[in-house]
Amino acid sequence: MQAIALQGPWRRILLITLIPMVCLIVYVAHESALLPAGFTPLPYNRNRPEPVDEDPTMDSVVKALFQGIIHPVDYANFTDEDGAVYNLSGEPRFREKLGKKVLILDIDSRPLSNEGEIMHENLQWKGLRPLSAGMMSHYMYAMIHGYDYKFIRAPDYEDRWGTWVKVPVMKEALKTHDYIVFMDSDVVFHYPHLPIEWLMNYWNMTSETLAMMAIDPDEPQNYDAHRKIYLNTGFVVAQQSERTQEMFKAWGECPNAGRFKGCEKWKLAWAHEQAAFGEYLRYAFNRPEDIKVLPCTEANGAPEAVHRGGCKGIFVRHYWIDKGLVGRQFADSIMQYLLPRLHQSFQQPGADHIVNAKAEYKFDNADLVHLTEEEKAKLPEDGKGKNQKFEGW
Ligand SMILES: *[C@@H]1O[C@H](CO)[C@@H](O)[C@H](O)[C@H]1NC(C)=O
Ligand SMILES: *[C@@H]1O[C@H](CO)[C@@H](O)[C@H](O)[C@H]1NC(C)=O
Ligand SMILES: *[C@@H]1O[C@H](CO)[C@@H](O)[C@H](O)[C@H]1NC(C)=O
Repeated sequence: MQAIALQGPWRRILLITLIPMVCLIVYVAHESALLPAGFTPLPYNRNRPEPVDEDPTMDSVVKALFQGIIHPVDYANFTDEDGAVYNLSGEPRFREKLGKKVLILDIDSRPLSNEGEIMHENLQWKGLRPLSAGMMSHYMYAMIHGYDYKFIRAPDYEDRWGTWVKVPVMKEALKTHDYIVFMDSDVVFHYPHLPIEWLMNYWNMTSETLAMMAIDPDEPQNYDAHRKIYLNTGFVVAQQSERTQEMFKAWGECPNAGRFKGCEKWKLAWAHEQAAFGEYLRYAFNRPEDIKVLPCTEANGAPEAVHRGGCKGIFVRHYWIDKGLVGRQFADSIMQYLLPRLHQSFQQPGADHIVNAKAEYKFDNADLVHLTEEEKAKLPEDGKGKNQKFEGW
């Protein structure tokens, strides 16, 4: 390669751009010196707009919190917060992180611009709507693992219920990304440090798989006309392929009464696109690997819904039981990582945050006086003593 020497017209261009820059710097330096000498900005100004857009420090805060604890994508097992161990059933298909080949996808056709909603310009923890918490947690999940993230504000169908917009939007996203993870806003990953690649290994997503969805609870309203339980379309992991395009196209065209007789009913009737998928698509795309049915207990429901067919949302939580719980779950998904690290720092050897005055002193009226060696030997080992009570908190 030839070194690029600054000569001829380039040198002139550089000089020309340098002159106004120097002028600007001189001007700015002078300008700040002109502030009145007694002027000090308020130390705490609530109304100052916070930089929210593309804040590089937010990215590093999240990365720092999860650094070193992200679960390896091809690890043989995963131990959950209750100590239960989940093993891969075979050799993992995914051994490398997929990065931006994965799209975490939110889709909504509503304005969502009221206070506490995601499109409001100033979102606060106080008053945060549950569905905003869900979307923020999807955004954070993508940030942790370096996946792509998009919130698609979809147009409306004139003659179909709003949830139908998911279908064509997912279809289009599967043209630009190899894998998409669509979640309703009341769906969240319970363990944000667990990458989707590990779950795709665990759930055996093969190169032939079109999509994975969780089964709904075994309850009468969830049965299709063939007495099979519906798949829930609130959590969809789909993989790019020609056949996947065909499936999503057929799904989106289902209510047009061409290929699937009777599907037009689901334009507006519950359960809309989910019923269309359950009644028709899953039977039309029925090669063994086409659709992976995920266990309700692992990818649907929440602990509060365990009485609904055991759907306790081990990995993926879906709060149809009570959408109001999504905010608490979002806090959970951060505190489960922040707390142990904060506590580690609190207890780290050598740091003197904890002063064991109990081992060295006793009280004498308002004073602390040193214990004698004899008194020290008599101290109870468990730290218990007089006039204290464990109140259960
Ligand atoms: C999980 O897998 C690792 C690596 O193969 C192994 O060393 C470890 O013993 C396994 N843990 C459990 C609880 O099975
Ligand atoms: C997971 O594998 C370990 C051995 O690594 C085994 O002891 C354990 O029973 C397995 N757990 C399940 C749920 O299959
Ligand atoms: C994955 O494959 C293993 C072995 O064939 C099987 O035991 C397991 O149930 C499968 N898991 C899913 C979610 O299909």
